[in-house]
Amino acid sequence: MTATQSITESTASQPPRLAIDGGTPVRTAPFLSWPVWDERDEQALLKTLRSGKWGSHADTGNVAAFSAKFAAYQDAQFGVAVTNGTAALEVALRGAGIQPLDEVIIPPYTFVATATAVLATGAIPVFCDILPDTFLMDSADAERKVTPRTRAIMPVHIAGQPADMDGVLEVAKRHDLKVIEDAAQAPGAAWRGRKVGGLGDAGTFSFQSSKNLNAGEGGMVVTNDREMADRCWSTANVGRIREGAWYQHEVMGFNLRLTEFQGAILLSQMEKLPAQYERRERNARFLDAELAKVPGIAPQARDERVTGHAHHLYIFRYDNSQFGGRGRAWFVKAMHAEGIPASQGYTTPLYRMNAVIQERRKWADLARSAGRDVTCPASPEEEALPNTERACGEQGVWLGQTVLLGEERDMQDIVEAVAKVQRAASRG
Ligand SMILES: Cc1ncc(COP(=O)(O)O)c(C=O)c1O
Repeated sequence: MTATQSITESTASQPPRLAIDGGTPVRTAPFLSWPVWDERDEQALLKTLRSGKWGSHADTGNVAAFSAKFAAYQDAQFGVAVTNGTAALEVALRGAGIQPLDEVIIPPYTFVATATAVLATGAIPVFCDILPDTFLMDSADAERKVTPRTRAIMPVHIAGQPADMDGVLEVAKRHDLKVIEDAAQAPGAAWRGRKVGGLGDAGTFSFQSSKNLNAGEGGMVVTNDREMADRCWSTANVGRIREGAWYQHEVMGFNLRLTEFQGAILLSQMEKLPAQYERRERNARFLDAELAKVPGIAPQARDERVTGHAHHLYIFRYDNSQFGGRGRAWFVKAMHAEGIPASQGYTTPLYRMNAVIQERRKWADLARSAGRDVTCPASPEEEALPNTERACGEQGVWLGQTVLLGEERDMQDIVEAVAKVQRAASRG
């Protein structure tokens, strides 16, 4: 008997009282906490401490070894480690030659860094909609947003699922655009048999605390283009060039290096990544099958060309008409009361985010005062994108990746809680 059947049958006559209304929760046991570490992580850190070499070196040491190892894991030839995923995006954009007032097409259903990294280069983020069933960039809408000023397109592999890379690469080819994949959430994800990151000109990753591969902070640019890798390396190493002298600075750059401690923990955490990846995948497949049976719930659709999903998040669509008209905020509260840490995820499309609005307006005013055309709608209402509005406003519900590291029994609890809440809510 599946979890859905069990809750359906055991409650056929009268739905149990919801925990939010004082009933007994489906579970009280906590889910796994994150990060997880063991003796090998401890030894790796201790070894680095005792080595006395705490700063990273270009060619040897933990960070260099991790950069090569992670790039190879992502089927890319080169990896440039940087301080975080936001910096990785900016470094990749600079490496791709993005200049002030160039336009870069991005989806608005993502972390703010996708937009602020573009703005940090002085370029203008132009938003395209997402697909309603995958929450990922709609490449057809991206093409509609191309102008003579567009220089790059940045798909974001939200939740760890690759965006439609065939569509994105075709748009890029037709309009001669650079492609930078924001793969912060997607280590191990693959599109038609090839890992993400090196499918376009470059791809970026984050190793921030919540991420599937975690060093507290950290990031990386991967690419198959040696010159791109060298430009990124220079940007992250105060404008030095690889064979140059220590005080030789040839281009604008920053100090974005990781420490050897971060390199050590990333190397040892990476040993655990493949097994964690498999477990997330197994549990996500279980949830996909079981949650789809609950009225009003639609798990993130999986494009058949996706051959690897990193499951940084487990996203599903919530349809309140099957929940007695109760809003998503209520649903998330009801889930928490049942012991399931669901969240509403991104609730603000990036074109409604003040940080983005203000900074984009600043660059747009500058462009106009120089007599240049610029894409900058007068108000968020003018640029509102329907699928993004629905995903942020009422539909998107998330579970975090650590939940997916549980046992099948934990997944059954999730299904049981969703089904219980749906039955009770639909009866009013
Ligand atoms: C889609 C996306 N892009 C960029 C970032 C930025 O990464 P970081 O927090 O390491 O700067 C994150 C994560 O935080 C993210 O989820």
